[in-house]
Amino acid sequence: MKVCVIPGDGIGPEVIGAAVEVLRAVAPAVELTEAEAGWAAFQRHGAALPTETLAAAKAADAVLFGAVASPSHSVPGYRSPIVALRRELDLYANIRPVVGLQIANCRLQSSEPIHNPQSTICNLVVVRENTEGLYAGRERLEDGGDTAIAERVITRRASARIVRAAFDLARSRAVAGHPNPKVTIVHKANVLRVSDGLFRTVALEIAAQYPDIGSEEMLVDVAAMRLAQTPERFDVVVATNMFGDILSDVACIHGGGLGVASSANLGEGRALFEPVHGAAPDIAGQGIANPLAAIECVAMLLEWRHRAASAAQVRAAAASVLADGPRTPDMGGSSTTADVARAVIDRL
Ligand code: NAI
Ligand code: MG
Repeated sequence: MKVCVIPGDGIGPEVIGAAVEVLRAVAPAVELTEAEAGWAAFQRHGAALPTETLAAAKAADAVLFGAVASPSHSVPGYRSPIVALRRELDLYANIRPVVGLQIANCRLQSSEPIHNPQSTICNLVVVRENTEGLYAGRERLEDGGDTAIAERVITRRASARIVRAAFDLARSRAVAGHPNPKVTIVHKANVLRVSDGLFRTVALEIAAQYPDIGSEEMLVDVAAMRLAQTPERFDVVVATNMFGDILSDVACIHGGGLGVASSANLGEGRALFEPVHGAAPDIAGQGIANPLAAIECVAMLLEWRHRAASAAQVRAAAASVLADGPRTPDMGGSSTTADVARAVIDRL
């Protein structure tokens, strides 16, 4: 297996460094190539996603991606390379699992304990459409620059394949023993009647093809509240691009926050694995980023390539470190990225 590693910016290289050590320890035969993308690459080469990087990503069986720092102001020639990679590789399904953290004494930085260990643990997956919607990149200025317009692109084809991916996932989770399979179809079709209206229509058509899987529809605002309040009521949640992006950050709090939230971007025969978090400039360079999200990406990657035993080994080691420490500051500890990585490798 050939894996293209794209560390990116900020804490990307720090957490991907840890993840690569784990990958090397558990699967030494995997061939690794490294490629550049992001703000630093843009400064160096004038391209956030150099053509060599795209070629390397296409040539590999899978991509392990860290994070990139994309400025919030417009920079001529710069476009988010992760958005571009997802579209270039047609990685249409962004799979973002959240398993509730059930550990007493583990609190997120400067917050009260977020999960009551007595309550039902949540185990849900946000399935986010990755190629269109409001992130289609169709933005323009009119009216001499005083009016900004973003087009929200929703197609039958993309809606059908993402909803099908959600129902297939719910079915495979049921086969794996997850009770009460259900897909929650999230939209705002009461306001966005045309665009989310099409997404909803297609989603309900697909739902009817899966009589063995429960389904419900939910407006995005109430979905956000329920994901915060009663995450255990969800199984698989499917949403358009931006709604899925936001909802998965809400949901990930129950699993321990951004430091442990990982995701898979899947297309036909292709895959890119990345932490949900970004480049975290506030802690970059300090060696204290939580590497567990990136390490879980290694488990997802191995699982995707049918190496279930190795994936389970990584997950068990990471779960043991999550339970007993060492922990980075985002989880209330005072250990470093390297301490956590070392502990995971020791427990493999
Ligand atoms: P962020 O995810 O980078 O950070 C949000 C907060 O979570 C920060 O306080 C950060 O310190 C903390 N955090 C994130 N990952 C952590 C980890 N592994 N360990 C400990 N703490 C962690 O989001 P933010 O600050 O909104 O964006 C920063 C930059 O990242 C921006 O330039 C943005 O464009 C980019 N970004 C890139 C993404 C990607 O490459 N896929 C995704 C999200 C943001
Ligand atoms: Mg996000």
